[in-house]
Amino acid sequence: GPLPGTGDGGRPTLDEIRRELGDCQRCKLCRTRKNIVFGSGNPRAELVFVGEGPGENEDLQGVPFVGAAGELLTKMIEAMGFRRDDVYICNVVKCRPPGNRNPEPDEIAACEPFLRAQLAAIQPKVVVALGKFAAQTLLRDSTPITRMRGNWRTYEGIQLMPTFHPAYLLRSPAEKRKAWEDLQAVMKVLGKQPPG
Ligand code: URA
Repeated sequence: GPLPGTGDGGRPTLDEIRRELGDCQRCKLCRTRKNIVFGSGNPRAELVFVGEGPGENEDLQGVPFVGAAGELLTKMIEAMGFRRDDVYICNVVKCRPPGNRNPEPDEIAACEPFLRAQLAAIQPKVVVALGKFAAQTLLRDSTPITRMRGNWRTYEGIQLMPTFHPAYLLRSPAEKRKAWEDLQAVMKVLGKQPPG
């Protein structure tokens, strides 16, 4: 796994974690992916968003959240008073599941150490878990996202807020109000004012 490094407390830096991932063949998603989608943004971010896995656009570009769900996520980030480049964005699985099917347990298990290492490297003040795969994986809690969302949790000493995934919000726009409440709770913790 991604071990010891030159970062804080001897932990690997994001660059070291990416190098360790290499041309990853640890799970079957490597056979159908075009690009590994490691993550993007500020390596010193106080706020990290964790999604589920790359879709078609992300697989083609190698960048997380650049499709329709990404457009909504970017709006959410900006409504919170951040720029996309201020925060860090990554996913539970770093390769696209074929046809955007859900990631399978063996795929999540293969990728999870890299996600955990990324969060350990960044040490943000808050992690926002977007959707059930991020929330359930990081928290090792199978509670449905509908019940988990909006409730502060602790992940390795970091405050974690579970909320709905933007792709779900595109299908169920009436739920956007709840997601915005969750993000407002995050803003309060970070001392962020909505943009003028
Ligand atoms: N959905 C996700 O969960 N992650 C992405 O990067 C894009 C869409």
